[in-house]
Amino acid sequence: MIMKKFKIAVIPGDGIGNEVTAEGVKVLNTYAEIKGNVEFSYEYFPWGCEYYLKTGKMMDDDGLKTLEAFDAILLGAVGDPSVPDHISLHGLLINIRQGFNQSINLRPIKLLQGAPCPLKDKGPQDIDFTVIRENVEGEYAGVGGFRFPGRPEEVALQTSVFSRKNTEKVMDYAFKLARKRKKFNKVTNVTKSNALNYSMVFWDKIFEEIATNYKDIKTETTHVDAVSMYFIQKPEVYDVLVASNLFGDIITDLGAALQGGLGFAASANLNLEKEYPSMFEPVHGSAPDIKGKQLANPIAMIWTAKMLLDFLLEEDDTEMIIDAITAVLQEEKTLTPDLKGKAKTHEVGDAICGKLKEIM
Ligand code: NAI
Ligand code: MG
Repeated sequence: MIMKKFKIAVIPGDGIGNEVTAEGVKVLNTYAEIKGNVEFSYEYFPWGCEYYLKTGKMMDDDGLKTLEAFDAILLGAVGDPSVPDHISLHGLLINIRQGFNQSINLRPIKLLQGAPCPLKDKGPQDIDFTVIRENVEGEYAGVGGFRFPGRPEEVALQTSVFSRKNTEKVMDYAFKLARKRKKFNKVTNVTKSNALNYSMVFWDKIFEEIATNYKDIKTETTHVDAVSMYFIQKPEVYDVLVASNLFGDIITDLGAALQGGLGFAASANLNLEKEYPSMFEPVHGSAPDIKGKQLANPIAMIWTAKMLLDFLLEEDDTEMIIDAITAVLQEEKTLTPDLKGKAKTHEVGDAICGKLKEIM
């Protein structure tokens, strides 16, 4: 038997990042153990806010160089009240996303049977779509400046950047994904080209251009404010959505709420060219209010680990990880307090691994 070996860089980060990352690694190891032909090795990096308070840096200066040697990065969460959020976010997460050209942020929004949905008349059959968020430029390109700080005429500027090459890549990925999902064969373009008369007009133009290569895929273009309303009113109409960095960020938190909260929201930052490692992280933050108490729901991280497997292995059996999560949800015995349970983070991880061994 040929062993497939992967080197994973693990950055647990801050707060509950540590607690949930342990459960993600547990699931990767369980999957590898069941399969027998996959092997993961891990190296841990202590980067994050504590590291910043000691060294003045969120990660080492040559951190990207170090990470290049890995097949993937598993990240918990970063952020702590002791460090301004724009420093922790830009110093680590955005640095890696942009430095490794992780141009796609993939966010599945799927309501599992047994997960709490805030919409009273909707169920798992209604909430099952994926948002592709542009991840390296757009509104988060970091281009701008301050003028006349502290003076009455003080001005702040922040400019969006949309390049043809990157926008085409993101659109193309969305169409390919719609084809692969085989749900409605539909891509929804999330825009705001009525108000943003340069950037979003360009965005729409590229969407239309790429669509001509995918005649089998239906298209629709909707303004982001309307999309926010339809997520609540009729989430069942969606299959794949493609959105800019800022809009994608906002609508995916709304999506997270639809699927039962941040405890379920997983994401992947993909470098499609595989020139650099891709990074996998739950959507939630470091949750300082519950850190260190084993109260965090590890499901988002476990789902994230499943996405890591999908990207590295391209096997069709990883859906069983979602089945294992669903089975644990339905038994209602082993759930964390956000799901009205009394179980600890590690107990939920153990229960999901136990189910996975039963069903795989
Ligand atoms: P947060 O996601 O950390 O927490 C929001 C609320 O959800 C809190 O009440 C928290 O207890 C709860 N929560 C989050 N994840 C949970 C889980 N797995 N299980 C149970 N409950 C969970 O967002 P917040 O409070 O806005 O930010 C806290 C810190 O995290 C800040 O420093 C922020 O910058 C950072 N952050 C980092 C992110 C990342 O690393 N990708 C994303 C979002 C925030
Ligand atoms: Mg966000």
